[in-house]
Amino acid sequence: MEFNIAITALPERVVTDTRSLPFGKVPTDHMFIAEYKDGKWTDARITPFQDLNISPLAIGLHYGQTVFEGMKAFSMEDGKINIFRMQKHYERFCKSLDRMCMPRVPQNLFNEAMHQLVHLDSGWMPGEAESSLYIRPFMIATEGRIGVKIAEEYLFMIVCSPAYQYYTAPLKVKVETTYSRAADGGTGTAKCGGNYGGAFYPTQLAREQGFDQVIWTDARNHELIEESGTMNVMFYINDTLITPALSGSILDGVTRSSLLDIAREAGIKVEERQVSVAELKEAFEAGTRIEAFGAGTAAVVAPIEIIAIGDKSYSCYIQADAAMYRLKTMLNDLRIGKTPDNHSWNYIV
Ligand code: COI
Repeated sequence: MEFNIAITALPERVVTDTRSLPFGKVPTDHMFIAEYKDGKWTDARITPFQDLNISPLAIGLHYGQTVFEGMKAFSMEDGKINIFRMQKHYERFCKSLDRMCMPRVPQNLFNEAMHQLVHLDSGWMPGEAESSLYIRPFMIATEGRIGVKIAEEYLFMIVCSPAYQYYTAPLKVKVETTYSRAADGGTGTAKCGGNYGGAFYPTQLAREQGFDQVIWTDARNHELIEESGTMNVMFYINDTLITPALSGSILDGVTRSSLLDIAREAGIKVEERQVSVAELKEAFEAGTRIEAFGAGTAAVVAPIEIIAIGDKSYSCYIQADAAMYRLKTMLNDLRIGKTPDNHSWNYIV
């Protein structure tokens, strides 16, 4: 599919240091946009970053027919730019779109749009350690109609924003046993807007209690650990990397999957299985050294220092020799080309 590139007359690059930027607040100069109408994708283009003109009746605004991805591009040691795991993100995007009855974007359009946009805005690539260009592909149902139906018109867009670490300090989290993120058969595995909007209220309550985030548990009994807000959750206990197995209600995180592969290849024992709250509590009570961290594109590896279970708070191990930092370094080294990319995870722009 051919598409035109309209280039903004006055690039506005103003960011010099991502460490002082709120995550996702500053867009780059350009965005990609394509329209879906009459059963096909048309009018694909790169334009200056701009507001949208959509109907107030747009189905996506009323009924949440929206899907997104979170990806990152990195500045490599040799000066090249790497978009990390484009294929895996595309596949997950397709699964989310299928779940939300939205049209898939052809892979060549997705890849080419991303390549062109990142190339064009490569001047925005931050240089500091721990920083990257965050890439947000997303789709929204734009057909204007208040009737509840699957839309017939959509916009697929990609925007970018220079980013530092999502969490800049170790997290205090609580195991959530009242509210749920997703239930069996729900949309938990899809990266759809509603999963995030629905998490705001419980997360706000947790914040009022002094926590940064919640750890979700299964909706049926609140006995099994699922994931944390904005990221998957992992534990390193007795030389073993443990994470909840993907159930129908956990997001298939790309960083989760990369870390598991990297750990296995480094000879670390990995367990993807059910992790119960009771097991975790028992291990804390027994004085076991527990590392806990969030894993996500935005979060990368986010150390957790406190986990509250019921009315008790437990401390996790966050000292500099913790295994999670080694895993994070291995992931970062691969992305910046310091170590070989044996899986072809890196897409060089
Ligand atoms: C990501 O990690 O990319 C996400 O989409 C999570 C978040 C920023 C909402």
